[in-house]
Amino acid sequence: MCGIVGYIGAKECSDILLSGLKNLEYRGYDSAGIAIGTDGGDVQMCRVKGKLNKLYEAYHSDPFDGTIGLGHTRWATHGRPSKTNAHPHRAGRVILAHNGIIENYGEIKSRLVDKGRSFDSQTDTEVLAHLIDQELANGASDLHSATRQALEQVEGSYALVIMTADNPDRLVVARNASPMVIGTSDGDIFAASDIPAVLEYTRDFQFLEDGDTAVLTRDGAEIYDADGEPVERETKHINWDPISAEKQGYKHFMLKEIHEQPARIIDTLRGRVDPEEGDVDLREVDIDPEWLADVDKIVMIACGTSFHACQVAKYAIEQVARVPVEIDLAHEFRYRDPIIDDNTLCVPVSQSGETADTLAAMGEARERGARVLSIVNVIESTMARESDGVLYTHAGPEIGVASTKAFTTQLAAVNMLAVWLGRRRGVLEQDTACEYLKALRQTPNLMEKILNRTDIYEQIARRYSDAESVLYMGRGNQFPIAREGALKLKEISYIHAEGLAAGEMKHGHIALIDEEMPVVVIAPRGGVYDKVFSNLEEAKARQGELIAIATEGDEQIAELADMVVEVPEASDFIQPMLSVVAAQLLAYHVADFKGTDIDQPRNLAKSVTVE
Ligand code: AGP
Repeated sequence: MCGIVGYIGAKECSDILLSGLKNLEYRGYDSAGIAIGTDGGDVQMCRVKGKLNKLYEAYHSDPFDGTIGLGHTRWATHGRPSKTNAHPHRAGRVILAHNGIIENYGEIKSRLVDKGRSFDSQTDTEVLAHLIDQELANGASDLHSATRQALEQVEGSYALVIMTADNPDRLVVARNASPMVIGTSDGDIFAASDIPAVLEYTRDFQFLEDGDTAVLTRDGAEIYDADGEPVERETKHINWDPISAEKQGYKHFMLKEIHEQPARIIDTLRGRVDPEEGDVDLREVDIDPEWLADVDKIVMIACGTSFHACQVAKYAIEQVARVPVEIDLAHEFRYRDPIIDDNTLCVPVSQSGETADTLAAMGEARERGARVLSIVNVIESTMARESDGVLYTHAGPEIGVASTKAFTTQLAAVNMLAVWLGRRRGVLEQDTACEYLKALRQTPNLMEKILNRTDIYEQIARRYSDAESVLYMGRGNQFPIAREGALKLKEISYIHAEGLAAGEMKHGHIALIDEEMPVVVIAPRGGVYDKVFSNLEEAKARQGELIAIATEGDEQIAELADMVVEVPEASDFIQPMLSVVAAQLLAYHVADFKGTDIDQPRNLAKSVTVE
């Protein structure tokens, strides 16, 4: 949550800060602000309530510029969205932007108020500005020392960019449990919450670790570890294309990302699958393959859409590799005293690699003896760096808050893991593995067929966008897709939706079904098709409006359903990756018809970096 960008160099930086914030807007968008050290020797700020277009308007109505500055786009945790609560915050000489939560801010604030300091905002962040300013007033030798002394007094998470009004030659940054990268390019130094913020200016990044602080000057970045000792953090060259973080003619990032899925799956499979040999190459995963192949059980943890990928993974891995897979919502796992030992493989799944609950659950599993193989999209994210091994998904930057390509590439990754394990454990015949991998290789082509049809979704949107509630049903590995379809619809159209295992309908949900209730049934031909068809008939018998996601040419379903979205015939192994594309498009078109803010739905943020 919240995006931060900072700059020091030779250039006037207002455009760098504003474009950087635009690229981070997915992290939060309820208020925003920038602060720039101007040539006149002071720092000017512009803050607004609302999205970045409001900040652009406010800034351009009274512009200012300089060669050092910082900016912030906010997702409120403490204090409602307002101009006063927008960052940057200033106390005395100190101006800063913060991502994270200062847990003991109440206690610190009382102490500071007793010493005569007054506060403008309701945020936890403002105490940091006051603490650092106080350390400077008490004689700290410079901003870096003052920051370190202040941070010794706080508990919680932070990524910080800090400057002072009287020193236009220095930014200080700090990180603890909230991501922070430093980018460098020919005398320009950038600090940001995430790589896409400044990708158009540099591809060379250093990744701060927890407890690190850094001093950024026009000569470069000096990084210090948690003990205050100078430390080298390796510079990594990032190959992401800045263009892929733009809309490229699509109306929304979400639509662009839905259409990108075939290409991103090709990227995820590239160099890893060999359908002729029936094997997967996971040498990049830095965990002893013999240990990995021999684990007693796998525990998968995640939140939201990534959790739905874990649900699909349970079906795939148990069936193909015959290893027991437990799945847990990360925030539940942490508090349920799970049974883990040193023969357990923990697999956290995450797009961002920064989700606080998943990071904490992964730490818990590790403490209990598990080894960690994460399935992550963002390169060098905290999760990737804290894992024993990483299987990257190569979805590229995902900007739309509603996750799409991250999900299907996660499914590609778990399918690869299933085949790898099945082969190593001697439970998967080579011929069968070849079939699985051939199916996986065909997925992008089959997806294209779904992406080429749009009229059916527009018809559905016209007919059902007034619905108050929608039920989604599926069985087997389509049950998680029912949940994911419902989540997509809720997130972006604000229509209540629920995804259930179709067999569960008669145990309660059937009471909801009447002629007002659209029911989306995910019923491609395959393993439990006949069972789902019976559930479809039960729903129709209660006058439900049926929308079926079904195999092309299925006349039986066409006769019963009010609307049919066709998906190509495919093996059960990859079918969830196809039906979910139909569910994504359905949600997208309903939301577009309703005119909601699809890429930045209300109350949400892309990375949930607070518990
Ligand atoms: C889904 O559309 C959401 N963006 C959300 O549920 C997301 O999947 C969840 O917050 C987990 O994020 P992660 O994959 O970055 O860990």
